[in-house]
Amino acid sequence: MPVRPKKPEEIESMRVAGRLAASVLEMIGDHVGPGVSTGDLDRRCHEFIVNDLASRPAPLNYSNAPGQPPFPKSICTSVNHVVCHGIPNDRKVLRNGDVLNIDITVIKDGWHGDTSKMFFVGEPSVLARRLVRVTQECLYKGIEQVRPGAFLGDIGAAIQRHAETHRFSVVREFGGHGIGQIFHDEPLVLHYGQRGTGVRLEPGMTFTIEPMINAGKRNVKLLPDRWTVVTKDHRLSAQWEHTILVTDDGVEVLTRRAEETALAPAAA
Ligand code: MF3
Ligand code: CO
Ligand code: CO
Repeated sequence: MPVRPKKPEEIESMRVAGRLAASVLEMIGDHVGPGVSTGDLDRRCHEFIVNDLASRPAPLNYSNAPGQPPFPKSICTSVNHVVCHGIPNDRKVLRNGDVLNIDITVIKDGWHGDTSKMFFVGEPSVLARRLVRVTQECLYKGIEQVRPGAFLGDIGAAIQRHAETHRFSVVREFGGHGIGQIFHDEPLVLHYGQRGTGVRLEPGMTFTIEPMINAGKRNVKLLPDRWTVVTKDHRLSAQWEHTILVTDDGVEVLTRRAEETALAPAAA
């Protein structure tokens, strides 16, 4: 199926959903710290999404593949060697030096906004700091490729080059995705690949870019809960995610946070 660009009123709905998802990450930062459990973070985000944003948390009861149990919580919390889709848990208490990805997807009036960021718990190691920074740079370098006429492969190539230049590796089993009224839609947005290949970008397309970058080897494994993805070598992994719109002359980051002064602000 070709990727259908969105109409102006659909784009406006995506802007709203994106802004709300970003606001959850802006809210939760102050609550991350040693002694806090990932279950606590999940409850706070759930209450905020439902009560303050009058929205729904997309992960709750979500299932993607046949035979996969529904996701039991409202956000994903992926600590240290967890690559993605970590399940919040009251017994998982954060400790000094942990690094954590919080991934938020909200549904507002049927439209999805999907974004994640890394948080430090207390004082991170030098390696953790470097991995987290390089992974955010990978996201930004991917976003910089986005404009009408560019190829999806340009995004993957830019991300892969930056990660590998720093001797980190790119997870290949998961990618970004088209997003709109469907959470995980076409196209699949690979975080590796070759320039000039794949889908050609057109104004009105909305998709996520969400590189998962490992400090060690790229290989991952799925835990028996059928959700949690970890690095095979148990070394650190990091991820950052934005939902973006291809505009007539470039890109708009629908899930931009106020702290991201490096990104052009979304159109008013
Ligand atoms: N938010 C994740 C993504 O970026 C998907 C999480 S699916 C869930 O695509 F069910 F685990 F929440
Ligand atoms: Co996400
Ligand atoms: Co996503």
